[in-house]
Amino acid sequence: MNKIIKIPVGLGERSYDIIAGQGILGNAAEYLSPFVKGRKCLLLTDSNVGPIYAKKVHQMLTAAGSEAFIFSFPAGEEHKTLKTVGSICSYAVKHGLDRSSLIVALGGGVCGDIAGFAAAIYMRGINFIQIPTTLLAAVDSSVGGKTGADLPEGKNLIGAFWQPKLVLMDPEVLTTLPFKEIRCGLAEVVKYGVIMDAPLFAKLEQNIDKLNAVDLQFYAEIIARCCELKAKVVAADEREGGLRAILNYGHTFGHAVELVSNFTLAHGEGVAIGMNMAAELAVQAGLLDLAVAVRQRKLLEKIVLPCTLPPGADPEKIYAGMLKDKKKVGGNLNLIVPLEIGKVEIKSGFEPAAIINAIRCCCE
Ligand SMILES: NC(=O)c1ccc[n+]([C@@H]2O[C@H](COP(=O)([O-])OP(=O)(O)OC[C@H]3O[C@@H](n4cnc5c(N)ncnc54)[C@H](O)[C@@H]3O)[C@@H](O)[C@H]2O)c1
Ligand SMILES: [Zn+2]
Repeated sequence: MNKIIKIPVGLGERSYDIIAGQGILGNAAEYLSPFVKGRKCLLLTDSNVGPIYAKKVHQMLTAAGSEAFIFSFPAGEEHKTLKTVGSICSYAVKHGLDRSSLIVALGGGVCGDIAGFAAAIYMRGINFIQIPTTLLAAVDSSVGGKTGADLPEGKNLIGAFWQPKLVLMDPEVLTTLPFKEIRCGLAEVVKYGVIMDAPLFAKLEQNIDKLNAVDLQFYAEIIARCCELKAKVVAADEREGGLRAILNYGHTFGHAVELVSNFTLAHGEGVAIGMNMAAELAVQAGLLDLAVAVRQRKLLEKIVLPCTLPPGADPEKIYAGMLKDKKKVGGNLNLIVPLEIGKVEIKSGFEPAAIINAIRCCCE
């Protein structure tokens, strides 16, 4: 097995470790054992991930001394619902899980979010472990303790802050992940570079071939770095009172882009376009050098992420979509804008015309 990296997430009594390493899923018993030995586990997975990895992880849980039961739900955001959470809890009751039992999430962000939410509410809260299998889940959703589900009225409208006890990350799972999902995760990786890590950004620029060829050793490095960065932000601001908001860079624009595209654009694609819009706004406001905005755009283009809206998109509609986004403060849009690579600022008070103009500049 390759190098194992341990990244501590410092949250006082809710602290936990992220353990990352190529091949770790085949050798996970020693890491799982302190948490699961002598306890029952519900191994939650989805209909795509389960057939590939559930047996292996089930064996690890058994080797670690747990009695584990697999629950699989149909893959897809449309199943990130209270109904699925209810089914998970009923299944847990049926198999005798009690307050000492755990839920183990094996899957992407959808699986992690509902597993964490079910763990937060089952018997008023039980422990859970994250085993992310998408790049997005590895670098973003599995770290930080945000859990939840969607309502028919909108995404992520219910949820809880509930930290895992352990996150286990094996980059080898990326070998079966469709490339489109990898690209979407890469949008979040680029985001970390722009908001807080210029060397990471430069490393991405210098390794386009490895990114596009999904070189696992390289991905192991960047996943570990992104986790460190997210852990740092979350440790400083667990409940998004301030600093954590920088993780939303590109997201207020991006969510509106996703919405207006009727979700034909994926989240990562929306975020890529959204980061370009935020950079354009910063350039027009005199906060950012044009050359830096171009640098960001070039990197995104090289990893085959879209930077502009498809023809026919209406900037005013996107602006209206942004106003509906949750991250508004006192009726004012709170936007994250880059000042240079590695540094962003949370700013409100932009004129609607300026925002709409920035959107228009990112239309084809
Ligand atoms: N909690 C947070 O902080 C946070 C942060 C960002 C996003 N999210 C949430 O994450 C979700 C998106 O996560 P996602 O992009 O991982 O989506 P996802 O969980 O739907 O996974 C994407 C697709 O890939 C499949 N898949 C997963 N791993 C695979 C593998 N290794 N091999 C083959 N197929 C695989 C899944 O079955 C699914 O079809 C959204 O619901 C979003 O709201 C949460
Ligand atoms: Zn995102």
